[in-house]
Amino acid sequence: MTQKNIWYEGIAFPFVGFNPELMRKAYEEFVVNEEDVLTVTFPKSGTNWLIEILCLIRSKGDATQIQSVPIWVRSPWVETVSGYEDLKTMESPRLVSTHLPIHIFPKSIHTTKAKVIYLMRNPRDVLVSGYYFWNYVKFVENTKSLQEYFELFLDGNVVFGSWFDHVHGWLSLRDQKNFLLLSYEELKQDTRSTIEKICHFLGEKLEPEEINLVLKNSSFQAMKENKMSNYSLLSEVDLIHEGHGSFMRKGISGDWKNHFTVTQAEKFDKVFKEKMADLPQELFPW
Ligand code: A3P
Repeated sequence: MTQKNIWYEGIAFPFVGFNPELMRKAYEEFVVNEEDVLTVTFPKSGTNWLIEILCLIRSKGDATQIQSVPIWVRSPWVETVSGYEDLKTMESPRLVSTHLPIHIFPKSIHTTKAKVIYLMRNPRDVLVSGYYFWNYVKFVENTKSLQEYFELFLDGNVVFGSWFDHVHGWLSLRDQKNFLLLSYEELKQDTRSTIEKICHFLGEKLEPEEINLVLKNSSFQAMKENKMSNYSLLSEVDLIHEGHGSFMRKGISGDWKNHFTVTQAEKFDKVFKEKMADLPQELFPW
């Protein structure tokens, strides 16, 4: 029998590693500390790239930790069963990750001065990346075709819900001093400047050669070869369809152009315009 996604507060979640009761408990009880640094994304926006960069900024470019500790242990996801457990005992200053929409993220977010980095990506590329990734892993209901996934994505019926709602929710914090908005596109186009921007936001001072190490050790190639970051460890627990892709897939901007039909591209534009019209369009660099 094929397993079904889990649903919580009207949003679908993977059927492995998630528990609605625990997410409710996290919402009520999880305390975001002032020293925490939060990585917030809709899945497939470059989350793990940003986490790798944050770990390397902390180690001043040294790769020892990123090559010996799984990425989900270095910066646990508060909404997962194991992540929530790990965060309870993790020493400050913590790195914390989440894909949760803000309205179901632990409510302590609204009273904290913790630093929040929200990383956005062209939702067309998020869609394509998600289509491949969720069919590669064994813990989410599969979709038969890109067309099917396309419609689910526009309706907000993919795991973690609507990209449009996610962005709206988190961008409501965008005028706060403890909030940094980044895009995958700027990170890709000028990685060094974006890393410097992150350092500035975090109050971390790195020497130019330390930034060089951050760049080198978080490159697509380095992450693809790092089994602590490339999710190949999931094969040891039989959670991926071997030979059907990889987590480090292409790592480029604009791959949607190789996948969308003209009709899909037009429909996406229309929906994007309708749903995002209330936000300043200069927030979106794609
Ligand atoms: P693609 O599937 O388009 O290749 P997330 O970490 O949020 O799940 O995002 C995964 C996406 O980020 C994948 O996109 C992956 O290839 C890309 N990515 C991960 N590390 C990267 C890096 N160092 N440089 C560029 N892209 C990276």
